[in-house]
Amino acid sequence: MSHMLTVSRAAHLIGVTRGALQQRIREGELATHEGMVSTDELRRLYPDIDLEESGAFERVTRIKEQSFGRRVRERMLPSQEILAQRLVAQSEELADLRRHLARYHDLVEALRERIGELPGAATAELGRQLDDGLAAVLGSDDKADAIEIADDILRVMSAHVTVRPSGREFFVEGSETVLKAALRAGLAPAYGCGNGNCGLCKARVVAGEVRQTHHHDYPLSAAEKAQNYTLLCSHTAATDLVIEVLEADRPADLPEQQMTARVRALTPLDADTLLLHLQTQRSSRLRFFAGQQVSLGVAGGTADFGGDYPIASCPCDDRNLLFHIPRDEEDEFALRLFAGALRPGDPISVRGPWGDFVLKKDSPAPALFVCCDTGYAPVASLVEHALAVDVVGAIAVCWAVTRPGGHYLDNQCRAWADAIDGFRYLPCTAADVTAAADAALAAVAGLPDLAARDAYVAGPAPFVAAVAAGLRQRGMAAERLRLAAG
Ligand code: FES
Repeated sequence: MSHMLTVSRAAHLIGVTRGALQQRIREGELATHEGMVSTDELRRLYPDIDLEESGAFERVTRIKEQSFGRRVRERMLPSQEILAQRLVAQSEELADLRRHLARYHDLVEALRERIGELPGAATAELGRQLDDGLAAVLGSDDKADAIEIADDILRVMSAHVTVRPSGREFFVEGSETVLKAALRAGLAPAYGCGNGNCGLCKARVVAGEVRQTHHHDYPLSAAEKAQNYTLLCSHTAATDLVIEVLEADRPADLPEQQMTARVRALTPLDADTLLLHLQTQRSSRLRFFAGQQVSLGVAGGTADFGGDYPIASCPCDDRNLLFHIPRDEEDEFALRLFAGALRPGDPISVRGPWGDFVLKKDSPAPALFVCCDTGYAPVASLVEHALAVDVVGAIAVCWAVTRPGGHYLDNQCRAWADAIDGFRYLPCTAADVTAAADAALAAVAGLPDLAARDAYVAGPAPFVAAVAAGLRQRGMAAERLRLAAG
């Protein structure tokens, strides 16, 4: 029996990205009805789906293999109470189906008896047809459907959340909070402390049930409780949910924030680039869009020892902020870092976020990221975000560097290219910024649908200007370009 699934649930079940499934819908290969796809249609398109390859089944296997180790249990397996609640919900559904089946059975038996009592050849023929039909149904040896089984497993292991009014969807895994799951999926919900104190993550539960997982000090009023409001940072999803959430759509929706973070680590990425890892306090997290930058400064100091740097990490990890700091003789802050003036535990002030070098909202167009040297930092954040949001079609990253060995995170790009269908990595090396722009344009020239891509270009100003001009000459419309020169 066929049933309807949301696109993101269907993608989760058959183990492809949502972007890939949406591509097949756009190309007319997969029919949808009011935004949903039927399991019959999925079976037709993916006849070889194998339970053992479905994400849900794989997750169960991994948990089993790792013998329910504590960390695995916390990260992947919902708590016993939540598992029990989800199993009760499924058992109720099963009991309901059984009740319906019993009623149909009684009805068919009564019909059969009545037909047997009626005279005439036509009713005898009707009786024979009914008997043959029943024998065919009862004698059939239909195998359990892989998609339906995977869906049942998924419903116990994770909860599906639909957000209103945006219609976005995501899954809550293990015992993570709804807020954490939303950020991991690339959403930008309203929140503040992430810790149950400020009340900014308040959201209304329209359908389904949540369960508290973390203590919160913020008191919801009686009226809010009556209207089913909850704090996303302190609750997980006990069942599938529909929630009303205030989301940030663009950089202007985010407030300017100021906080003190501490140096967690300073690691050389190569001879001329440092990876600065800052960690904010538990109750003071940075809300930002991937690709944005912040002002860093020695806490309590002046702008003499600070500067604006793009964040290289994903907004989903709002406490751990990564930066790629290049050696620069004119940058006092960078020189101090290279001189070892700052050590783990030292405070650094963070103010921001700034800039509109962010992913184009909900654009399914293939994306092209072109960067030079540490222009890779905001690109790394954007690529992680694009993968989390799972809407972007194919992704290509062209990274030009101006010194040999300058691809300081080559492995990260190669790992993406190995693991993700449709991901292209195009590294190139040149003698200077002007030659790097030429090399980048030559590297991307052969990409399919170059002019139809959304392009993001980051790096030194002359590089960005030359690449942007080159892409426009190759037919790319100006509105497809987003630039970060610095
Ligand atoms: S983010 Fe502050 S209470 Fe949830």
